[in-house]
Amino acid sequence: MKNRTLAIIKPDAVRAGHSGKILDRIIQENFTILGLKQTWMSLEKAQGFYEVHMGKPFFEELTIFMSSGPCILLALEKESAIDAWREVIGATDPQKADAGTIREEFANNMGENAVHGSDSVENGAKEIEFFFSNSE
Ligand code: CDP
Ligand code: MG
Repeated sequence: MKNRTLAIIKPDAVRAGHSGKILDRIIQENFTILGLKQTWMSLEKAQGFYEVHMGKPFFEELTIFMSSGPCILLALEKESAIDAWREVIGATDPQKADAGTIREEFANNMGENAVHGSDSVENGAKEIEFFFSNSE
């Protein structure tokens, strides 16, 4: 069944000029782009987005990083988009990411790992709603 994932090209990848290649990969992989925009998150917005990780040792560094510059937000749809996108991006730790994945190719380290993907159908819908209005 078709479902939806939020994808984020994180500030490290935007800064490094990898956005074009990552967008091209999204199109090649046949995701339908329902929404796309660039935003510079406030620290508060980043803290809200990563609320589930609040209290973890990497939370502060993560939210400062996510608000350190512009990122590109995408609402993507495809057959099993959640699983398909997580397969394309690879493991959270780029050292463990499979060859050919976006994180293996573009991520710097566990924190600055180039892209985000939702982890469940329910969270995909929630995360898209967190950043996009219906008209977007
Ligand atoms: O992004 P993903 O779902 O693969 O990983 P997560 O466990 O939901 O963690 C969210 C984000 O926090 C990761 O993408 C990393 O940017 C960051 N993180 C980190 O800096 N250090 C960790 N030990 C775990 C996650
Ligand atoms: Mg996650």
